[in-house]
Parts: sequence; C-alpha cells; structure tokens
Amino acid sequence: MGLTKQYLRYVSSAVFGVIGSQKANIAYVTLRGGEKGRYVAVAACEHVFIWDVRKAEKVLILQGQKHEVTFLCPSPDGVHIAVGYEDGAVRIFSLLNGESTVSFNGHKSAVTVINYDALGARLVTGSKDTDVIVWDVINECGLYRLKGHKDVITQALFLKKKNLLVTSSKDSFVKWWDLDTQHCFKTMVGHRSEVWGMLLLNQEDRLLTGSADSELRAWNISYLEEGKADGEPRVKKEKTLLEDDEDEDEEVDESPEERILSCKKFGSILREARDRVVSLTADNKARVIACHVSNETSPGSIKLSRIHDKMSAEEPVVERMLKDEIIRLTNIKASAKIRWVDCLSCAGGELKVALLLQNNTIETYSLRTLNNTPTANKTARLTLGGHRTDVRTLAFSSDNLAVLSASGDTVKVWNRSTLQVIRTMACEYALCSLFVPGDRQIILGTKSGKLQIFELASGSLLETVDAHDGAVWSLCLAPDQRGIVTGSADKTVKFWEFELIKDQGTWSIQEMFCDIVDSTLIATGSADRNVKIWGLDFGDCHRSMFAHDDSVMFLQFVPKTHLFFTAGKDKKIKQWDADKFEHIQTLEGHHREVWCLTISPSGDYIVSSGHDKSLRLWERTREPIILEEEREMEREAEVEESMAKGDVPVVPGETQGEAAPAGKKTVETVKAAERIMEVLELYREETRKMEEHKYACEKAGKELPPPQSNPILVAFGNVSTSSPCLFIKIHSVCFFLVCLPACVVILSELEVSLLVLPFPYIPELLTLFNSYIQQGLEVELVCRCLFFLVSNIQWSPLQFLQREIESKEDVMFFADATGRLDEKKKKKRKRERAVLTIA
Ligand SMILES: *[C@@H]1O[C@H](CO)[C@@H](O)[C@H](O)[C@H]1NC(C)=O
Ligand SMILES: *[C@@H]1O[C@H](CO)[C@@H](O)[C@H](O)[C@H]1NC(C)=O
Ligand SMILES: *[C@@H]1O[C@H](CO)[C@@H](O)[C@H](O)[C@H]1NC(C)=O
Ligand SMILES: *[C@@H]1O[C@H](CO)[C@@H](O)[C@H](O)[C@H]1NC(C)=O
Ligand SMILES: *[C@@H]1O[C@H](CO)[C@@H](O)[C@H](O)[C@H]1NC(C)=O
Ligand SMILES: *[C@@H]1O[C@H](CO)[C@@H](O)[C@H](O)[C@H]1NC(C)=O
Repeated sequence: MGLTKQYLRYVSSAVFGVIGSQKANIAYVTLRGGEKGRYVAVAACEHVFIWDVRKAEKVLILQGQKHEVTFLCPSPDGVHIAVGYEDGAVRIFSLLNGESTVSFNGHKSAVTVINYDALGARLVTGSKDTDVIVWDVINECGLYRLKGHKDVITQALFLKKKNLLVTSSKDSFVKWWDLDTQHCFKTMVGHRSEVWGMLLLNQEDRLLTGSADSELRAWNISYLEEGKADGEPRVKKEKTLLEDDEDEDEEVDESPEERILSCKKFGSILREARDRVVSLTADNKARVIACHVSNETSPGSIKLSRIHDKMSAEEPVVERMLKDEIIRLTNIKASAKIRWVDCLSCAGGELKVALLLQNNTIETYSLRTLNNTPTANKTARLTLGGHRTDVRTLAFSSDNLAVLSASGDTVKVWNRSTLQVIRTMACEYALCSLFVPGDRQIILGTKSGKLQIFELASGSLLETVDAHDGAVWSLCLAPDQRGIVTGSADKTVKFWEFELIKDQGTWSIQEMFCDIVDSTLIATGSADRNVKIWGLDFGDCHRSMFAHDDSVMFLQFVPKTHLFFTAGKDKKIKQWDADKFEHIQTLEGHHREVWCLTISPSGDYIVSSGHDKSLRLWERTREPIILEEEREMEREAEVEESMAKGDVPVVPGETQGEAAPAGKKTVETVKAAERIMEVLELYREETRKMEEHKYACEKAGKELPPPQSNPILVAFGNVSTSSPCLFIKIHSVCFFLVCLPACVVILSELEVSLLVLPFPYIPELLTLFNSYIQQGLEVELVCRCLFFLVSNIQWSPLQFLQREIESKEDVMFFADATGRLDEKKKKKRKRERAVLTIA
C-alpha cells in the first residue's frame, strides 16, 4: 500500500427493518385513487413509509434528511402529506411521486401536531416550542405565529364555519384564536391537567377534550352572529381564572367583547380507566371517535418521553357520537401496546382502524358500525419487514449477497440488494452470529449459552448445542475456516470444528481445541469510550484513542485490512486506521444507540442496527477521503449544529432576532480560545524552565546544558520563548498554520475568542503583547486585540472574581460573553477613545 493510504468514503444507502417508528402517528392515505383504507403512512426514523397493508408491502418512501419524523398529516384531497420533524421543520410531499415540494421552517423544536384546513389551503402546526404557526400552503409562506400557550401544543384545529382556530396544550388550556385578527379571544381554563386530545364534533357544535383525568369533557359551542363590528379590532383581555378552583368546569364571565362564540361545558363522560388520554381520534366523517389512553401501571421504561407514554392493550375504546350522546361501540384489543390510532369510515358503515404498535408492528381492524354490538376483526398485521425487539447481532454471507439479523426471538436473512426478507426463523435471544462457509447454514450464539444452527434452504433449526455456562458473547470463524471460536461470559473460549454429516450434506459442530489465530493486531472497544489497539507480537497496547461520546458497543475490522469500524451508544459509527491511529470517517444516521454492525467480506457494504429499530445499509463509494477536509467538514457541521437557529422572520411582521451571529459560542471560538490558552501555558512553562535554568547556572557558577525545549517549539525551528520575536511567530503565523485550514476563521474570530478566554490568562497575554509592541512585532494584530480587551473587559476586582467563578460554569460564562459582545457596538465610541489613550 505504500506510505499514503487511500481511504474511500462510505455513504448511507438504505434504511430497512423498521415497520413504524414510535415518535410519529399513523395515518390512512390514498395513493393514486387507490382503494380506501389500503395504505397507511408511518414514520420510519427520518423517512416516511407508505405501506400497502393488504399486501404487506412498502410502496413509497418519502425521503427525510437527518431528523426524525414526529408528525404526519395527509391533505384533505389526499394528494399531499405534511410531515413534521424533530427539529421543527415541516415538509410537504406529493403522494403521487414522493417528492417534497414545500418546506416550512419556523419552529425551534419538534412538531407535535399538524392539521390542514378544510380546503387544504392552510396548514396549522403546533410544536414543543409552544408556538402555533399558520402557513399558507398555496403561497408557501408563514401567515401567523400564535404565541400564548406555555407548554407543548397537543392539538390545533381549524373551524370550517368561521375563520377560527382552536388549540390545546399540555399547559392545561384550550385557546380559541380569531384568525382575522390573530389574537386569542378565549382561553378555556376548565381542565386541571394537560389537555392531550381534542375533537370538533356535530358540525363544530361540540368540542370534546381529553386530559390527564378520567373525564372526557364535552363543550357546547354556539356561534354569536352579531359579533363582528366592522374594522374594530377586538382587544380582549385573556381570562386568568386559575385561582378559581370552584367553577373549574364552567366557562364563566362571557365578557361583552367576546362576541364570536360561547363554549360551555355541557357534559362529561367518565372513562373506566383512570389513566391519561393519549389521543382522541375521529374518523374522516367525525362520526366515530377513538379514545386512546395510557396505563401507567404497565411496566414502563425511562426511554420514553411523555408523549410516548404506554397504554393498556385493551384500549382504545371506540365510541360513536349519536345525537348528543356518545355511545359505546366496542373495544379493540391489540397484540401489543398501542402507540397511535387512525380510523377511516368506508362505504357500507365499515370502519377501518389502523394501529401502530409499540413493538414495530402495524395492525389493522375492521368493524361494522351499523351493528349494535360490532366486533372488530383483525384484517392485517405487518410484522415481516422488521424485528419486534432490537437486533443484537448481524452477519454477512461470504458472497456479500445476504445478511442476517437476529434479535431476542427471531433471526431473519435479508437479500442485500433488494432488502427483502428471505427467511424468518424463531430463535433464542441471540448475541452473536455467522454464516457457515458455503452460506447454507447460519450459527447463532445465545444469551443462554447455546449455539443454534439453522439451515437456510429449509428455514429449520438443525441443532442446538449447549456450548457455555454463560452468554455466548462472540463467535468467529477459525482462520482455516473449518471451525469456529466462541467466547463466553463464563470466561472460557472454546474452539469448535465443523463436522460434515455426509448423508445430510450439512455441517454440524464438534468441540475441539486448536492454536491461537494468526494475526498481528487486535482492537478493543469498551464502555469507557476508548478504543485500544494492541499488537499481538508483544501483547502491548499500541494506542488508546477516545472513540465515542458514549460506550463503544461494537468493533469490527474491514476484512483483510487494518481499517476497522466502531459503533457507539452515541448513535455514531466511526471508521479508524489501526496502523496510523487515525479517525477516518463518521457515519451518522441512527437516532438511538447503535448495537452492532457487520462488514461484507468484500468491504463494500456495512449493515448496522440500532435501538431505533432501523437496520442501515452503508455502501463504499469510489470517492477518496482527505482526512483534513473530513475534519474540517465535521467541524463546520458541529458549528452549524451548535449555533442557535437563526431567528429569521417566518411570518410577516416578525422581527429578526437580536443575537449577533459573531457572538455565538461556536466550536471555532472555543477552539481558538483553547489554542490561545495552550500558547500561554507553553509560554509560562518555557519561561519557568528558563528561569530555573538561569538560577541553576548561577548556583553552579557555570553554564549548564539548556533544558529540553518543548517539542512544539523544536518543531518550529527551535524557537525559544526567551525570544518573543519567535514566539509571536508561533502565535500569529505558525500556530495558526498548524491549525490550517481553520486559519482564516480563527483570525476573524479572534476577538470573540479573547472573550471566551478565562480571565487569569489575560494579564499574561497583556505582558506578552507588551513585549511584542516593545519590539515592534505584529503591531497591527496586537493592537487590535488590545483595544478589544480594553473596551470589553471590566477591570474591577469584583468583576474579576465573578468571572473567575463563572469560568467554572461554561454556560453562564458564554452567556455573559455574548451579552457583552452585544454591547460591543454601543461601546464603539469608547473603543476609539481607548485607542487614543493607548497610543
Ligand atoms: C348549546 O348552546 C345553545 C346556545 O347557548 C343552546 O341553545 C343549546 O340548548 C345548548 N345545547 C346544549 C345541549 O346544552
Ligand atoms: C392498566 O392495565 C392493567 C393490565 O392491562 C389493568 O389490570 C389495570 O386495571 C389498568 N389500570 C388502570 C388504572 O386502568
Ligand atoms: C409484538 O408483536 C407481535 C406480532 O405483532 C405480537 O404477537 C407480540 O405479542 C408482541 N409482543 C409484545 C411483547 O408486545
Ligand atoms: C368479523 O368476523 C365475524 C366472524 O368471523 C363475521 O361474522 C363478521 O362479518 C366479520 N366482520 C367484518 C367487519 O368483517
Ligand atoms: C436477491 O434479489 C435479487 C433480485 O431479485 C436476486 O437476483 C438474487 O438472487 C437475490 N439474492 C439472494 C441471496 O436471495
Ligand atoms: C535544536 O537545538 C538543539 C540544541 O540547541 C540542537 O541539538 C538541535 O539540533 C536543534 N534542532 C534543530 C532542528 O535545529
């Protein structure tokens, strides 16, 4: 290979193994005038999958980018679907071709609800950021941002009768908005807890709300006609009756200004379950409602956020509005916990119900609503294309064409080119796996210490061997390919030999012992986030590298190379060079912990699995990676990530945010400050060494050999700090050159970097600057820094103390720094004065 190795880029190629992600809802969609109730849209991590539930086939993928899908809503005409993402973005896709046509960016965090108006001309979005935004779909722009809620928006509905909007939130309020004037004219305070669901029923004469208590509240809406005095903007004080607990259910005090509608409680339904309502869903004709509740007594996991709470399997209760009463229809009991529900009324009184379950399954049911006591029949179940539980082991076949994935209960073999499942077989909880040479059998090592051998042609379990007393952690092929080596939690390593059973023509395995494998390097990853590279010749650790921001979960060499990949709990996959100890590339895509990966024998493909239930295929391209460029790109991406979202106006009349972009805590700023600190520390260290040397010489009465210079100084041509002339060379030129190509950025961000510099370094910096000026070196740069320091740093000892304390708490510190930067412009005059004083 020679001295220069060429690294090739791997890119994401496909996401599979996900049937439906838990973060977003499920929705019936129509495709090209196809049969009603045949297609459902669900999130699949960052994508949206459209499934044909009848054929259990994925028919369309709406490609996302980076962030997970959090909500989806088809347009009333069925042609488009609006998709909301974790980062607050909303994109509208055409269901005809799967292309994204429009995108809206106005929220700062996850979109929690989206609804179209009846004509499909406007869209309302609610978010975790507590804002509600109304968008004009036709002109592709924001119309109004409605602020007022204090917590996550849980529902937002347009009315048909009037230009009104009603919203609910976890802040326990339901708010009515007049869209003509964009103000909230009514706040309903009748709920004591979060309002989780809301429906408009009976031609918008009824509002039904579900909250964290066991009561479903029904409200009588009456529209007041005389209300709209022309041109007179209604300025209505919002009601704050929080203190008034007595009449919590009454809409009291219709103020004279409130001439649009009245909304009075007229009844409530006490649910049987006492747990909170997760959602209230109505069918397309608003005739049947599904109430979906959580059940806190079911075992939970801290991984789930509030909007992801669990629910009882016997919910939802499907109920119907009949006249003014809600009549119980039936219960649907799904085979796992339900995450989301959607209902669709079809011809002949048939109701279709689609359930997204918590174990990566979709189930559909059908019932006849005209019956008095209908029973819901299960019509479909989508399970084949993914695992119920997380995939813990993956393996490639020797011909690179098939890949196996095994979870807590099943092993699947996939066709790598089509990503279709070839085989699904029940197995024990698998932890490691491989294809037996010849690719006709697979072996799994299980949590219970067994080895299970399956035959692919028949899809049958050939043999189960009790191999170890503890979990089988790893399984690998012996170098001669005629056996395997297993490592177990029982602290033993066993060697097994394949034994060809002649009459059946299949392999069996037999325990045996053999010599250590021939190899030169071993790499290990661990929970301490480091990767260590060991030489097998002397068993020494060549290098330990900080690899991931969380535990390293998996590590594998690219066959026949010294390149390897690691997978981390930090959602990342990274590639490394074990000879040069270099980080080559980071593959990002998983939204949760990455458990394992497998690299094809050719090195061209990688498949990884994560806690987000996705399996991801990565492909090697022919594009070479230049490491410096790669690092630079990563840094830029990080900066973009860390920068607060620009407060660009989204809706008319919104003003631009005030934070000056230069004042942002960016990775560059922090790094530049760190470099300045490094230089100052080096200076301090070298000065100390020289003084000690001088003292030692004086004591000894003769010239002693000079102390060892810092390698950095040697590297730059033996410069010494006793000669500031050379030191500034490092500081302003070489130092920045080292950091190329960030050089330009650093110079432009120098001022901000100085602000980020902890105060104790500043006197030293000033001393240094002083000596440079004395020698007439780098005067321009030094003056620029000096003026900046003088005008921006408050010199009182108290300030000094405060800053010392704050420097221990980054957040405060940066906030402070930014604040002072904002004052920069105001101080411009002062700065000029400072120039004069110093000059
Ligand atoms: C709803 O309100 C209207 C107007 O106030 C009233 O006429 C009607 O009787 C009310 N309906 C119920 C069921 O309370
Ligand atoms: C929650 O679910 C469990 C099991 O399904 C059931 O026994 C229990 O009654 C439910 N709890 C409530 C409060 O409904
Ligand atoms: C998960 O889904 C499968 C198939 O849909 C179902 O049979 C099973 O009971 C579910 N398991 C759990 C633990 O919910
Ligand atoms: C559900 O199944 C029952 C019994 O198999 C049948 O009588 C009924 O018609 C089915 N309902 C629907 C909506 O298909
Ligand atoms: C995978 O699918 C392709 C295309 O259908 C087919 O040609 C190939 O034989 C399949 N491979 C395996 C291993 O099933
Ligand atoms: C640096 O200085 C040391 C001692 O002064 C000397 O031995 C060494 O050769 C010098 N290195 C270079 C690169 O000039």
